[in-house]
Parts: sequence; structure tokens; C-alpha cells
Amino acid sequence: MATAESARPSALSSVAARPAAAPSIQVAAPSRREFLYYIWGASIALLTGQASAGLIWFAFPRFKEGEFGGTFAFDPEELPSAGAPPVTVSSGRFHVSMTNEGFRALYQVCTHLGCLPKWVPTNFRFECPCHGSKFQLNGNWIEGPAPRNLDRFIATITYADGTVLETPPDGGPIPLDPNRQITSIQINTGARITGALH
Ligand code: FES
Repeated sequence: MATAESARPSALSSVAARPAAAPSIQVAAPSRREFLYYIWGASIALLTGQASAGLIWFAFPRFKEGEFGGTFAFDPEELPSAGAPPVTVSSGRFHVSMTNEGFRALYQVCTHLGCLPKWVPTNFRFECPCHGSKFQLNGNWIEGPAPRNLDRFIATITYADGTVLETPPDGGPIPLDPNRQITSIQINTGARITGALH
């Protein structure tokens, strides 16, 4: 017969049945100096990332060829003769203008408030429909509120012999030699030279 003593679990057996406590791990809080190191490291990583993203952004062209803001190939066969009406390339927002002085690629947008002057054959000039500014075939201002000549894009012309001509820094014309064959005309609509003030 079991006694009351034997029916009660002993204190020793209850201790043995209890699972062993996991060893506690003490995590020390970072010191003030360590914390500042972490902040400093994160700032450097952020700055480096931003600089790398900026480099990648500028390393690759943002405009495709034939898209406004990029370079347009203009067919030399389309080149007007000197003094003839300009050829307009609407997708590139420019007029190709040929005078006795040479070749120019004129930005279509009026230098007053941004309307689009049209070539008016009867008056042989560009006329702005908004406030009446007028410009010569070479883009120079004639009259009206526009404060300056039409802007120009930088063009690069290559002859068959490999000679390369480029729009001068002041936006002046590129003189062309009618006796030499032109193989390529490139117009960079991302490189605009501001028209001179009058
Ligand atoms: S926008 Fe051309 S004259 Fe005003």
C-alpha cells in the first residue's frame, strides 16, 4: 500500500523534470562612439550610391538618335540651295537654312515667348503667329518683341574626303564648298546656341 509520502512527487523529481533554462546572452548597447561610426558609415554609403547613380545617368545618352534632344541625320540630298526656302524638320524642331554665308540649323521656337514662327514664302521670312516677330532666312531678327535672333543647333558636316566642319561657337554659319560631296549632316538638338541679342 502506498503511503502519502510516496504518492507526493518529491521536490527533487520536479526539479529534474523542469527544462533547463537557456543561457542568457548579454548584448551590450553600442557606445556613443560606435553609434557615430555607424551613422558616418551609412552616410558615406548613401553618398557613394548617389554619386554612382549620377555617373551612370550622365554616362548614357538620354535621348535616342532621331528623337528631339538627340542627334538627327539630315539627308545631304535634301539640302536647299543657297537662298532657297528652308527645309523644316518638325520632329527635330529645326529648320535647315542655306544662305550665301553657309549652313545653319535654326531652332524653331520663337525667342520671345516660345511660339513657332512659320516660313512665309510670300514675304520670304519667318513670321511668328503670336506677337508678330519676324526673322530672316538666316534666323536674324527683323522686327517684333523677340529680343534676339533664333537659336541654332550645333551641326556637323562631313565631306567625302573625311573633312569635318562644325557650327562655330558663336552659332555662325558653316560655309560649304559646292564642289565637294557631303556624305553626312548631323544636327544635335541637344546642343543649342542662343541667338544673339539685337
Ligand atoms: S512668341 Fe513669337 S513674337 Fe511672341
